Amino acid sequence: MSDIFVFFAGFQTVIMNKILVTGGCGFIGSHTLVDLIENGYQVISADNNSRSHIQILNGVEKITGVKVKNYVVDLCNFDDTCAIFQENPDLKGIIHFAAYKAVGESVENPLMYYENNLNSLLNLLRCANDFKIPHFVFSSSCTVYGNPDEIPVTEKTPFKPAESPYGNTKQMGEEIIQHTIHAHPNINAILLRYFNPVGAHPSAEIGEIPIGKPANLVPAITQTAIGKLSQMKVWGNDYPTRDGSCIRDYIHVCDIAHAHTLALNLMQQSRNSLDVFNLGTGNGYTVLEVINSFEKVSGKKLNYQISSRRPGDVVAIYANNDKAKNILQWEPRYSLEDMMKTAWEWEVKLKEDDNLFGAVKAALN
Ligand code: WQD
Repeated sequence: MSDIFVFFAGFQTVIMNKILVTGGCGFIGSHTLVDLIENGYQVISADNNSRSHIQILNGVEKITGVKVKNYVVDLCNFDDTCAIFQENPDLKGIIHFAAYKAVGESVENPLMYYENNLNSLLNLLRCANDFKIPHFVFSSSCTVYGNPDEIPVTEKTPFKPAESPYGNTKQMGEEIIQHTIHAHPNINAILLRYFNPVGAHPSAEIGEIPIGKPANLVPAITQTAIGKLSQMKVWGNDYPTRDGSCIRDYIHVCDIAHAHTLALNLMQQSRNSLDVFNLGTGNGYTVLEVINSFEKVSGKKLNYQISSRRPGDVVAIYANNDKAKNILQWEPRYSLEDMMKTAWEWEVKLKEDDNLFGAVKAALN
């Protein structure tokens, strides 16, 4: 039976349907599995672990008590992707995280990004239509705005040219979904534009495991603080900002995860075929402010060097998140200090808990 009805305090609550989470072993995917389970959803994951680690599902199980089934499938292979849906006829929704997302790598290897990020999306949309899956949530990104003329950006802020092939795959992905929904009204979709997801689950049972040297700011900070990196670089302090370093909207990964649960809940009630939401706190912090916050929270003095600007960086971007607050009923709960604290606790756990990720860390170095 796909829907399980549970009577709770006299109210009838539908334990929601079964959801396919692609990239469920990844950073945001694993945190979303936890949030969905805690909100009554049944979940399965599809992740070929090319950029993630199956061990993270042990952490999901420790937090929720649920052992999540993962299909080790390359979503660029249509037949293998289709087989997931044939085996799970009770699927009612898809949350699509699985994609490459390193801005710099996408500049060096654009074809790999277009092939992987677009073919996987096309296959999933074909399956959603063929198997009549009504709900589709797409992992989009603030990179779709390019270098915005005005900040904060709203969902109506016009796109500027993407700063990287990665950002372009997200712009194209949103367009492909819009055209698909228009032709196939049996599917409805929500596009979630993440700003800068950081931090880790408060339990420190799951978190981010960068592949190789981290490109993103917060893992670079925590790996430098714990000694995995000898020093990190601050890419530029000559920008037209309050302290010369770039401004971003850092948002806790658990807040991002919860927005996915709210998106699925909304789609089951609304008749909107397509909607889009910014997922940011609405606050912009500079790189140096983030470093200062980390030092305060961790008690560590960070070894960093001011270096030249990183190509492709936008000067400043942060979200107007009114729409997500008003329509999704979403409210970011974690502060910048919480983000730094949980990121640091996860890094410490990674170092201590060798048997959990020892093999993984060996493979990463
Ligand atoms: C933030 C700031 C760097 C590392 C990311 C993801 C992208 C998308 C949006 C989801 C910049 C500076 C960084 C370092 C530094 N996320 N920095 N030293 O570039 O905003 O993009 O969020 O879709 O996938 O890449 O994030 O963390 O790389 O950089 O000074 O060692 O930190 O120059 O100003 P970015 P980031």
